[in-house]
Amino acid sequence: MAILVTGGAGYIGSHTCVELINAGYDVVVLDNLSNSSEKSLERVEALTGKKPVFYKGDILDRDILNKVFAENKIDACIHFAGLKAVGESVAKPWEYYENNIAGTLTLVDVMRQNGCKNIIFSSSATVYGNPAQIPITEECPKGQCTNPYGWTKSMLEQILSDMQKADNEWNVILLRYFNPIGAHPSGTMGENPNGIPNNLMPYITQVAVGKLPELGIFGDDYDTPDGTGVRDYIHVVDLADGHVKALKKIEENAGLCIYNLGTGVGYSVLDIVKNFEKANDIKIPYQIKPRRAGDVATCYSDATKAKEELGWTAKYGIEDMCRDSWNWQKNNPNGYES
Ligand code: NAD
Ligand code: WQD
Repeated sequence: MAILVTGGAGYIGSHTCVELINAGYDVVVLDNLSNSSEKSLERVEALTGKKPVFYKGDILDRDILNKVFAENKIDACIHFAGLKAVGESVAKPWEYYENNIAGTLTLVDVMRQNGCKNIIFSSSATVYGNPAQIPITEECPKGQCTNPYGWTKSMLEQILSDMQKADNEWNVILLRYFNPIGAHPSGTMGENPNGIPNNLMPYITQVAVGKLPELGIFGDDYDTPDGTGVRDYIHVVDLADGHVKALKKIEENAGLCIYNLGTGVGYSVLDIVKNFEKANDIKIPYQIKPRRAGDVATCYSDATKAKEELGWTAKYGIEDMCRDSWNWQKNNPNGYES
């Protein structure tokens, strides 16, 4: 079976390519490389012995999409391509709505014209807004997003769900990721953020490697055990495996399904700092800063549904996540440009 992986050169996409190839799928990647490097696909090849078929192009471009479908017999699409920087989305809402929403509308239109109606979509725990309950089940109502990025995910969930309701030949799986961190245990693939990282783990690893002087912790007065924000961090290889399991579900005619992909365990910012220090024997200097606008106190999943219906659970623990994140950063201090 051939799987189209949009955004397959990116952080989660490249790790998913490895798991797909290892599971016996043929992989076709479409990526405009706006936030990634083709080198990630060379690393996929080094790890699996197979290079994904690669098209450099945009999901907004019908011609390249038609070319991909004409040249390959695509059975399903795992759709990662999208812009994902929360702060940037506040400054550039049009660009986010255009890229993520118009891009996805174009993609699914070309898919249905080519008779491919199977899609797995990268959604996010951000759709829960300030969650109504903890741990968060899939039945928890979607909330008010605090930024345009989050709204693109929430709106795309609605669009894809409505399409599936109107035409039950579609199989649509919405995967709501919690906080992906970690890197391939080989140390050859990982997250490659542009500029100063916004997310916690890449910030910590850049402090550890000496690129940044200290970590700022955004608030220590939340209603959490130590006052810092609590999240559900999940190893990127576990996340990648969740997509392989979701493909199996598609093969059984999924219809419309929604799954949380998280570990079900919450760690605070200070827990992460301490675990990183312990796993890697490196001190991370930090300073408490004011809260960051838009952050919630606590966000972690109930991951039961994915376990029961996909047979998927996270296998890696926090120590693995901290070790693998550092292993990638120390071997590749400048990401794929090293
Ligand atoms: P990433 O930026 O590393 O990967 C996204 C890839 O999509 C990049 O390679 C980029 O070049 C490509 N891309 C962007 N716009 C494109 C377009 N118009 N046409 C073709 N390619 C395009 O990000 P990631 O962390 O791997 O995230 C993958 C997906 O998962 C995204 O949709 C993201 O919103 C979602 N997600 C990520 C997180 C997270 O914390 N990393 C959490 C929840 C959901
Ligand atoms: C985690 C915790 C911060 C950086 C974001 C998106 C979400 C999803 C995942 C895509 C929080 C604290 C962070 C720092 C800190 N992405 N922190 N100092 O905000 O939970 O989720 O990524 O869908 O949509 O919003 O992740 O890694 O930014 O923050 O103290 O320098 O670390 O306040 O408590 P977040 P994060």
